[in-house]
Amino acid sequence: MRKFRGLSLVELVLALGLIFVSSGGVMSVVVAGVSWPKRNQFATVRDSLAKGKLDEIMVNSAPPVPAPVYAPVTGAPDYDMKINATPTTYDPLSQVVEVSVRGPRPQLVTCTIRGLFVPSDGAVAFEQYGCSSCHALGANTPVPGSPNLGLASLTAAKDAENSLYSTSLTVSAYIDESIRQPDKFTTGNPVVMTSYPDIMSMPQEDLSALRTYLMSIP
Ligand code: HEC
Repeated sequence: MRKFRGLSLVELVLALGLIFVSSGGVMSVVVAGVSWPKRNQFATVRDSLAKGKLDEIMVNSAPPVPAPVYAPVTGAPDYDMKINATPTTYDPLSQVVEVSVRGPRPQLVTCTIRGLFVPSDGAVAFEQYGCSSCHALGANTPVPGSPNLGLASLTAAKDAENSLYSTSLTVSAYIDESIRQPDKFTTGNPVVMTSYPDIMSMPQEDLSALRTYLMSIP
């Protein structure tokens, strides 16, 4: 008959170690295994919501609009989003944008990503040529006498000129005309706009950048 010998101390330690490690593994599968794929999925949704918003802000030529208080994301109501925008010290038009997304409810796990918003050439030209000293943009209150330059007001002004002079200008042609020959069509405002009739006063490149910029503003 075969005799079994007892375990040596080394074998005992190894055996206990093996039991300890494997039970740890089993426990972590029990504890984390069930929720792990889900948590991973949540993180992916959170990250892509934040990334999507930041991308949207970066390609927009209009300055970012901060929304510093968490609000539910449209289309993903279990997640909240907030947007902070801080002008840089070296250039008031450039802004550090921070998008934070938290969720899904009731979890408040947050993902934050940052980017640097650099204004388009048109936005820079708008400041450099001093257009902003007379004109307001988009939903801003216009400076008395100077028309608001969002796409909606420009379209309305273009329609008015077309019907008055039986022309068929497009919005972009109307913008060009308004900058090159501001006195060609007037709304009867007492304020007179500075004109930029030729490439000595404004290169075509700046005119195009300004046109694209103005048309990007609602
Ligand atoms: C001195 C003030 C002043 C400055 C500077 C100025 N504008 Fe104007 N702008 C006006 C006024 C006033 C009108 C309206 C003219 C009229 O009554 O027809 C106008 C009209 C326009 C229009 C037509 C808008 C519409 O609704 O008919 C555009 C486009 C425009 N400006 C763009 C610019 C751009 C771009 C710059 C900078 C390169 C600029 N303006 C600089 C005063 C100014």
